[in-house]
Amino acid sequence: MQGSGRWRIDVHQGLGAFSGFVFSSGDRGQGATSITVTGMRHPLSATSEATPQQLRDAMATFATGVTIITTRDAEGNPVGLTVNSFSSVSLTPPLVMWCLGNGSSCRAGFDHHPFFAVHVLAADQQALAMQFAGAPAQRFEGVALDTNARGLPILPGCLAVIECERYQTLEGGDHQIYMGHVLATHQVNAGPALVYHQRRFSHT
Ligand SMILES: Cc1cc2nc3c(=O)[nH]c(=O)nc-3n(C[C@H](O)[C@H](O)[C@H](O)COP(=O)(O)O)c2cc1C
Repeated sequence: MQGSGRWRIDVHQGLGAFSGFVFSSGDRGQGATSITVTGMRHPLSATSEATPQQLRDAMATFATGVTIITTRDAEGNPVGLTVNSFSSVSLTPPLVMWCLGNGSSCRAGFDHHPFFAVHVLAADQQALAMQFAGAPAQRFEGVALDTNARGLPILPGCLAVIECERYQTLEGGDHQIYMGHVLATHQVNAGPALVYHQRRFSHT
């Protein structure tokens, strides 16, 4: 920087954003330039933001796999729901994450039990995906449920079961983010997967 001046900088990284002003007081004779940063805004206080409908429409273009994530509540009842916000986070350590709506009937269960199981659904499991997105009381009806060594409800016929220990939870607006430490994987096979795209199920 040469001479004096005020420079506006905007840095956007991931979900956060930094905005501020850089003031340069010019060359002080030893090549030194003093920089003062002021006016930093709160990371989420954008002057405008997408509406929920705009975000829904944009996210509908993003094809995802479909999972059912299960655990047990304090009374030992199986709890679970269909989830497509599932994603990998890290390989070392092995971490995954998913998001649960704040008003979910499953919230108490996932906050109670230290473990959860992610079931990656196969192409022929659309009916199961619908069942686990429907009335909570009927989600496990007619399902040949297994129970693993940690007491987690395990569904048959999936492409993969990813067994996790709750690692961290974060507030994410109207959802809660659950990060899981992957302890083991089971049933892994490379058959065709159930896919969710443009608010419809399809498959690979
Ligand atoms: C394809 C698909 C993906 C879904 N993904 C999520 C998700 O990532 N997070 C979530 O909280 N609900 C998701 N849902 C909705 C839940 O399955 C469930 O219907 C909703 O959370 C209400 O039930 P609950 O009160 O037991 O949570 C999804 C539903 C479908 C059909």
